[in-house]
Amino acid sequence: MSTALIVLAAGQGTRMLSDRPKVLHELGAVPLFAHALASGRALEPDHVILVAGHGAEAVTKAARALDDTIEVVVQAEQHGTAHAVAQARPALAGFSGDAVVLYGDTPFISGETLAAMRTARAEGADVVVLGFDAADPGRYGRLVVDNGALTRIVEFKDASEAERAITLCNSGVVAADAKVLFSLIEAVGNDNASGEYYLTDIVEIANARGLRAVAVTCDEAETLGINTRAELADAEALFQQAKRAEALAAGVTMVAPDTVYFAQDTVLGRDAVIEPNVVFGPGVTVETGARIRAFSHLEGCHVSRDAVVGPYARLRPGAELAEAAKVGNFVEIKNAEISAGAKVNHLTYIGDAFIGEEANIGAGTITCNYDGVFKHHTHIGARSFIGSDTMLVAPVRVGDDAMTATGTVVTRDVPDGAMAIGRPAFEIKEGFWRRLYEKLKKKKMNQTNQE
Ligand code: UD1
Ligand code: MG
Repeated sequence: MSTALIVLAAGQGTRMLSDRPKVLHELGAVPLFAHALASGRALEPDHVILVAGHGAEAVTKAARALDDTIEVVVQAEQHGTAHAVAQARPALAGFSGDAVVLYGDTPFISGETLAAMRTARAEGADVVVLGFDAADPGRYGRLVVDNGALTRIVEFKDASEAERAITLCNSGVVAADAKVLFSLIEAVGNDNASGEYYLTDIVEIANARGLRAVAVTCDEAETLGINTRAELADAEALFQQAKRAEALAAGVTMVAPDTVYFAQDTVLGRDAVIEPNVVFGPGVTVETGARIRAFSHLEGCHVSRDAVVGPYARLRPGAELAEAAKVGNFVEIKNAEISAGAKVNHLTYIGDAFIGEEANIGAGTITCNYDGVFKHHTHIGARSFIGSDTMLVAPVRVGDDAMTATGTVVTRDVPDGAMAIGRPAFEIKEGFWRRLYEKLKKKKMNQTNQE
C-alpha cells in the first residue's frame, strides 16, 4: 500500500517562550520534527509532507538539511488541524494510497503503533484514529466509542460533563485513504469554541457518510507532546534512557550509561566500549570493538573496528578513522581520514587532511588548513613520522616513509623517504643565566635599600 505522511508543524509553540519555531528545538541532537518523520519512515512512505507555518523559512531549511526528499508546504495562517492537513492536498494531487497524519511536536509514536493502524485499515476501517487511555485526560480531545466503532471526537472545550469524563483521548494521529481524507476535510466547518477547522470532526462526518471509523490505542508515553521547555527536557531524558537501553541490549559496553548522550541516529556496533561522559552528536557510527574513552565528543564521523578515541578527544564532521587508528587526548579531527593503524595521540589538530597507514603524528602537531578565506588540504603518507610541534602549512604533502623534525614549520612538499627540518637558530651561551640572575638580584637589593 502506498503511503503519504503529513506531519503538522505550523503551530507557534507559544509556551516554549522562544523566537524559534517549536519543532526546531532539538531532541536527541536533531530538530524535534525529525522524530515524527523517523516514526513515519517505518511505513516506507512515498511522500513525506511537512506542513510549516510559524518560522516556515527556518523550518524549510532544517527539513532540507535533514533530508531533501521532504516536501514542505506552508500554512500561512493557522486555522486548525483540518486546515493544516488540507494544505498538503495539492502536493498529493496524483497520489492514491493512504495518508497518515502525525504531529511534528509528538516524537515518540512507535513504528509498531503505526503498523497497527495500517492493519486496522487493511481490516476495513475507513478512518483510523490513534487513541490512548490518559491518566489525566486534561484538555485532550475525547474519543466517543460505541460498540467498537468510533462515532465522534469531541474537543475538551466543546465537551459536555459526561464527555469530559471519558479517559480515552485523541493523540492526533490519523490514517485514511488520502482522497477520502481530503473529501471529509472539505466538509469540516469551524462552528466551535475555538472557531477553528478541527481535523477531529472528520470522524463524525465519516459516520454520517456510512464510513467506518475505529480507534487503535497505544501507550500514553508514546503520545507525549512537547509544549514547554520542561517537557522538552523530560522528553530528552526519556529519549536518552531508551537509546542507552537499546545500545546495551545490542551488545555495547557502557559502565556508566547514564553519562553517555546519544543522538537520534547514533549507531554503535556490538562490543564497542563507551566509557563515561561521552557525547554523540548527529551522524556517528562506531564499529564493533572500537573504544571511545571518557569525556570525548563525536559528531558526523565514522570510527572503524578496534579504533581507540580519547580520553578527551573531539571528532568533528568528516572524521573517518580506519581500523585500529588511535586518536588520543586533547586531539581534534575534522574532515580528515586517519588510515589503519595511524596514531594521533596527543594535543593535535588535524583538519582537511589524509593521514596514511601506520603514520605517527607527534604531540602538538597542527595542520594549518585555513588561510582566513579558503581551506587547504594536507597529505601525510604511510608510515611517516611527524615530529612533535610540527606546523603543516596547507596545501602541503608529506610523502610515504618521510619525517619532519620536532618544531618544523612545513611550507613545501616533503618527498618520500626524506626528512624536513626547519627550526629557528639554536645557540648555547655558557654561564649566561647565572650572570644575568646575579645582576638582577643586586639591582633589586639596591632599589629596596634606597626606599
Ligand atoms: C489536538 C486535537 C486533540 C488532541 C490533541 C493531542 C484537534 C482539533 N484537536 O488538540 O483532539 O487530543 O491535539 O495533542 O485536532 N497545527 C498546525 N496548524 C494549525 C493548527 C495546529 O500545523 O492550524 C499543528 C500544531 O503545530 C501541532 C498540531 O497541529 O503540532 C496540534 O495542534 P494543537 O494546537 O496542539 O492542537 P490541540 O489543541 O492540542
Ligand atoms: Mg497540542
